[in-house]
Amino acid sequence: TYIVTDPCVKCKLMDCVEVCPVDCFYEGENFLVINPDECIDCGVCEPECPVDAIKPQSEDEADGRWLKVNTAYSRVWPNINVRGRPLADSDAYRGQADKFNRFFS
Ligand code: SF4
Ligand code: F3S
Repeated sequence: TYIVTDPCVKCKLMDCVEVCPVDCFYEGENFLVINPDECIDCGVCEPECPVDAIKPQSEDEADGRWLKVNTAYSRVWPNINVRGRPLADSDAYRGQADKFNRFFS
């Protein structure tokens, strides 16, 4: 499976959502996640993200954090398959490190 990781947090640039053949992106207020059970591992979305937030699960952190985050939130957030607007202040957060930890845990 592929997973959405920290660079998406507070940016949510939205270039990724329309290419997924199985529509397995889910939208939170501040970032998106992929449902790992629905992802068919096609890899099409990975190069679409301008900030390299989408990665194969093999590149997750050692504790598997992002797989857990994607799994948990994709169960409760609504599906998204049409591109919306990036967050208004995405430029200010672009490139910042460790955003999920700093803002949401
Ligand atoms: Fe969708 Fe393919 Fe990306 Fe998985 S790897 S989320 S199936 S586009
Ligand atoms: Fe996020 Fe990148 Fe998609 S920033 S919304 S994973 S294009």
